[in-house]
Amino acid sequence: MCGIIGYLGYREAYPILINGLKKLEYRGYDSSGIAIFYENGYSLYKSKGKVHELKKKISSYKIKGTTGIGHTRWATHGIPDDINAHPHVSNSNELILIHNGIIENYHAIKIILLKNGFTFKSKTDTEVLVNLIEYIQKKNKLSLEEAVRISLNEIVGAYSIAIVEKSHPERIVIAKLGSPLALGINEREFFIASDPIPFLDYTKNAIYLKDGEMAILRKDQELDLRKIVDNHKLSPIIKELQINLKEIEKGEYKYFMLKEIYEQPKTILDTLRGRLLIKNGLICINGIESNKDIFINAKSITIVACGTSWHASLIGEYLLEELARIPVEVEYASEFRYRNPIIEKKDIVIVISQSGETADTLSALNLAKTKGAFVFGICNVVGSSIARNVDAGAYTHAGPEIGVASTKAFTAQITVLVLLALKIGKYRLAITESRYNYLCQELGSIPEKVNRTLKIDEESIKKISKVYHNVNNFLYLGRGINFPVALEGALKLKEISYIHAEGYPAAEMKHGPIALIDENMPVVIIATKKGCYEKIIGNIQEIKARKGKIIAIVNEGDIQVSMLADYVIKVPNISEELSPLVTVIPLQLLAYQIAFIRGENVDQPRNLAKSVTVE
Ligand code: M6R
Repeated sequence: MCGIIGYLGYREAYPILINGLKKLEYRGYDSSGIAIFYENGYSLYKSKGKVHELKKKISSYKIKGTTGIGHTRWATHGIPDDINAHPHVSNSNELILIHNGIIENYHAIKIILLKNGFTFKSKTDTEVLVNLIEYIQKKNKLSLEEAVRISLNEIVGAYSIAIVEKSHPERIVIAKLGSPLALGINEREFFIASDPIPFLDYTKNAIYLKDGEMAILRKDQELDLRKIVDNHKLSPIIKELQINLKEIEKGEYKYFMLKEIYEQPKTILDTLRGRLLIKNGLICINGIESNKDIFINAKSITIVACGTSWHASLIGEYLLEELARIPVEVEYASEFRYRNPIIEKKDIVIVISQSGETADTLSALNLAKTKGAFVFGICNVVGSSIARNVDAGAYTHAGPEIGVASTKAFTAQITVLVLLALKIGKYRLAITESRYNYLCQELGSIPEKVNRTLKIDEESIKKISKVYHNVNNFLYLGRGINFPVALEGALKLKEISYIHAEGYPAAEMKHGPIALIDENMPVVIIATKKGCYEKIIGNIQEIKARKGKIIAIVNEGDIQVSMLADYVIKVPNISEELSPLVTVIPLQLLAYQIAFIRGENVDQPRNLAKSVTVE
């Protein structure tokens, strides 16, 4: 987490940094800070809270300088306050550093530095790193870049950093391992950022630094790219970024999350584009086609992910088992990597991640690769670390997702998983021709059905939100492929409205959670016609008998459940296999409306960040 930014060139750095930090705030918003350099000196400003707090604090100052670095923080070591905010300064006041990531061996290094007379103001691992660089530089009389390189070879952990030496403001040294770092390049200027969005107004020519690379940026000089391990000089490959700036604006919407919810008919269409060719009965996914034999011969598949992507993985399990008849295990990335999983050569591991930067998922991917697995990635962010490191994969093409609560990425992930399951099912002759063709037709109708879902019950969702926005608990129930949707609905509510919510398989309720039900407990239950409908009616009766309040997601034309429920939200009829693509929509809207009525900052919920680049 954390966002870093930097500028070196001929323009005033301050507006570039402060506006850029705003765009990186989704990565963390506990505190922020900037350092702007001038001949033999610098101005350093930090503030607890969001970037606008920092801006407010320094709005009356004249901040001049054409070199600068900035940071927006998601706290790991030390509470969010001004002292722990970045940039951090070395003991001699010569070196100024920003950092995204975690230095795992910082404690051992700190002890050595303390023994050598260093002192520390903050509780951060970053202050240890900047002083380690100073210690190595002074002891060995090295250039900044060589001191950085040698120091980073002593580091265990993850980082993207930018560092400036006070007496040499014409140079910034940057480096990356594990955390993302993009470098925008124009004539006579460089832009540094955790993702390229902050510098798109200035340049689309960029490189993404790879793990283990560092660069020395000098005013009016060519980029100097090197390997951290041995200082080997590299030839940079500069690419033109294909990002549409409109996609990262809120437009008429109050929050990005709402915009992203309403974008789903289009984003699902984008995911299907060029892949689902209904007329020819074809599904085209290069990453599967070029590895056809691996998928045909697969004995099992393991899917690894975190958060919402983990919920999509559970839906993938259902789809792959049902349509391709392959046994699937779904694992939390953070658990997978610490328990010596049984993965053999050529086993298939699928990793799913919106950001493509989630530290646990990235580590799980690396572990799977060291065990010889064939790793297939489903990512949204093009060129992200996970996307670059897999053997093959499919992008979700949902466009930039800015709201911390994932919505359109989730439906795009499910869409890719449906395509995958159908394609592999056909290869393995596990699905009949008629079922395959029918599901392809149904899949083609999804964008229109999602569009309808968004319109059908807007008003009832607002009404339900008004009634229940003040409760302390919610229960979400679903069965079969809609059980993960119940988990996702509960997660959405928790993360943006701070109401405690739990998702359960509907039938499991009687093994414990039923004890929670009384007249104050709203229960959201997914009761679509094709998914164990009769059994779900039984579950609803059990809740009603204990005076619980039922909010039911039903199909258009439903009668039975609608008669029992306190509130109903209708979704279009669709095959059970594809139903999560419509049933999740009202749950996203319900979470949004409740958080909105409670006055929460929907896009930036407390304690969270969009990409979790720490383990
Ligand atoms: O970028 P990823 O899909 O790897 O992120 C995984 C989770 O951190 C993410 O889904 C998180 O749970 C979201 N805040 C959910 O809305």
